Amino acid sequence: LQYQVYLQCQETNKNVPKCVATKSKRNILVLYQYRLVSVLLLQPLRVSRMRSVLSLSVVLLLCLALGVVCVALWDGSGLQFNWHPVLMTTGLVVLYGYGSVVYRVPFTWGQSKLPWKLLHAGLMLLALLLSVVGLCAVFGNHNKNHIPNLYSLHSWIGLTAVILFALQWVAGFAGFLLPFSPLSFRKLLKPFHVWLGGSILTLSVAACISGINEKLFFVLKGDNHTASYSNLPPEAVHANSLGVLIVAFGLVVLRILTNKSWQRPEPDQQETAYTVGKCLRLM
Ligand code: HEM
Repeated sequence: LQYQVYLQCQETNKNVPKCVATKSKRNILVLYQYRLVSVLLLQPLRVSRMRSVLSLSVVLLLCLALGVVCVALWDGSGLQFNWHPVLMTTGLVVLYGYGSVVYRVPFTWGQSKLPWKLLHAGLMLLALLLSVVGLCAVFGNHNKNHIPNLYSLHSWIGLTAVILFALQWVAGFAGFLLPFSPLSFRKLLKPFHVWLGGSILTLSVAACISGINEKLFFVLKGDNHTASYSNLPPEAVHANSLGVLIVAFGLVVLRILTNKSWQRPEPDQQETAYTVGKCLRLM
């Protein structure tokens, strides 16, 4: 109101009352500050939001295109095989690693555990689905080209990891998310779940590095078409580095998981409180 009086006085060339003048000057100053902030901060924010929407749309379009290409290339060929390392590493190492450290984020400790439980279970389910599709890629490729199945150490370790992972997911769901699972079962399951979780990650990393090594030996034979692995061509450097990164990632995740001071502090009763039953009741 005072500001309007101030503006009217200025328009009609009248003297502005003193009390209004000082306050209105302050208002104008605030207004200018606001405009300055909006120009300096909000404008770039708006631009960056537009940029993120644009990048998200591009990523979604790329995913769609990739999905279409994936279906088109699902013909048992070597191109189908290529999905195997990509999906296995994304699922059983990257997503699995992220999913397993969900409870180690300190700012979540004061919050309800249920959303984090659901995120943990969801990420793990996605990881499992990706790894099953990754296995279908390699089995399909082997069957189409009459290559024997499950002869290598890599395949034994890898398949063991996937089977244990599937069992672990089912047991975790039944034990920690079903509302009627007894507290005694949860208490029994928890240390085993934590130990098996770390072991599955170790097996996955072992499967990845043995798979990478095997592929390098298969492909880099040093004949007319390819260089020899022992000459360390760029492909070998690239794949070796990928293996080293996978091992480093696994070690970091295991370190996070085994560090006692990073474990979510929780009273025993809390375990019973956060269940799917409670979630459904809340909805
Ligand atoms: C956690 C990750 C992985 C798991 C669980 C896994 C699992 C498997 C399994 C079960 C097979 C046997 C398929 C069959 O017998 O028909 C296989 C084959 C194969 N995998 Fe993997 N794999 C993983 C990662 C990788 C990676 C990163 C590579 C890198 C290129 C790779 C390369 C191969 C190759 C070359 C074969 C065919 C030869 C063979 O049967 O050993 N794998 N994998």
